[in-house]
Amino acid sequence: MANKTFPEGFLWGAASSATQTEGAAEAGGKAKNIWDYWFEIEPERFYQGVGPAVASDYYHRYKQDIQRMKDINMNSFRTSLSWARLMPDGEHVSHDAVTFYNSMIDEMLAQGIKPIMNLYHFDMPLHLQQMDGWENRAVVDQFQQYAQTAFDLFGDRVKLWTTFNEPIVPVEMGYVNDYHYPCVFDMKRAVVVAYQSMLASAKAIQAYRSSNQDGEIGIILNLTPSYPRSDSEEDVRAAHIADLFFNRSFLDPSVLGHYPEDLIDLLRTHQMLPAVHEDDAALLRENTVDFLGVNYYQPRRIKQKETPIADEASIMPEHFFDPYIWPERRMNPYRGWEIYEKGLYDIAINLKENYGNIPWYVAENGMGVADEERFMDGSGMIQDDYRIEFYEEHLKWLHQAIEEGANCFGYHVWTFIDNWSWLNGYKNRYGFYRVDLDTQDRLLKKSGLWFKDVARNNGL
Ligand code: BG6
Repeated sequence: MANKTFPEGFLWGAASSATQTEGAAEAGGKAKNIWDYWFEIEPERFYQGVGPAVASDYYHRYKQDIQRMKDINMNSFRTSLSWARLMPDGEHVSHDAVTFYNSMIDEMLAQGIKPIMNLYHFDMPLHLQQMDGWENRAVVDQFQQYAQTAFDLFGDRVKLWTTFNEPIVPVEMGYVNDYHYPCVFDMKRAVVVAYQSMLASAKAIQAYRSSNQDGEIGIILNLTPSYPRSDSEEDVRAAHIADLFFNRSFLDPSVLGHYPEDLIDLLRTHQMLPAVHEDDAALLRENTVDFLGVNYYQPRRIKQKETPIADEASIMPEHFFDPYIWPERRMNPYRGWEIYEKGLYDIAINLKENYGNIPWYVAENGMGVADEERFMDGSGMIQDDYRIEFYEEHLKWLHQAIEEGANCFGYHVWTFIDNWSWLNGYKNRYGFYRVDLDTQDRLLKKSGLWFKDVARNNGL
């Protein structure tokens, strides 16, 4: 019997994505996405020269893996469809892809695991990136068709859909930094990418609603509570701008159906407003989400801009604030992210108070650790007590928020089995199961056993 019980029907599970797990990068006529391509042309940009071609070989091992989900009492699992696999030429559907995804979904349902299916997780098909990706409205329309195709094919069994995972990340990493392809440094183009991926999300929701599907559709956002260094007007203003850029740029249009006025003003002041079509506002207003997925790893600490601006002429987000290093922070040194469990509570209360208490779930929360074999005991089980502690502390704050009325319906960790990471290959491991990269064997970690109990007891 748990001391901290979660609401009835609470979803306990894990998240992953197609490119990070499936492997089989060319199987069944799958087309290249930007990750396959970038690895081909610049393998040295990838941690230890490891690209996504094999990943965790989920494409071939999904049946046994779904059994493993069941073994630890997961009742739900989120992954994504690979757009480049499902529609390699952007027009026709791949028979092999449909067979694979059908079989995966059926297997999950047979094991009592509710699928949450995401449509886009950083993996633009190459041929669409060659048309400028989200900068091109034709790609937005193609996304709507892809979404429609996915709903037609799988919507009879998948009842929870999400349009995007962390749509701010390709903007931040690929258009104002060079960590994701196409490695562009241009804030104006970044704004277009953000705006048009938001339109793509709304168009997918529009397609879902107009095809009389009987499930729900949402979006998954990485919310990073933006804490100012002090109460000074300058620090508070700087943190507010960071919040506008990194949280509210997708949160407000997704949930409220419009952008924050002060974000629009800020972009207007710096001549960075994107081209807007007459019916965009109605599209956004009429196609808000049914629910939110929230990925939470770390907060954002901000102080007023104190360092010199490198290039006055080209505006970047960092022109408006500096990161602040809180002296009391605790770090995950392997990933370089602050661990701050209360952030999850603050997100929950913000959604309750400012976003109509929309239904939401924790769609990712996790701790990547390097060299985990250090913690392997004689039986081969990794004793990842640090991860258990990380989850427990977050769950305690989540539980408190739910007691105070937060409308949270699930908790998914990142991740189920160790998987390939965009920037770090297999350096940091997150899974309940360790993947042996030589043999692809999966080994249950102590955190998997812990989760099995938590899920069975519906609480801590
Ligand atoms: C999330 C992403 O931001 O964080 C995942 O949705 C990602 O795709 C996860 O893998 C962990 O981050 P990383 O960089 O350590 O792989």
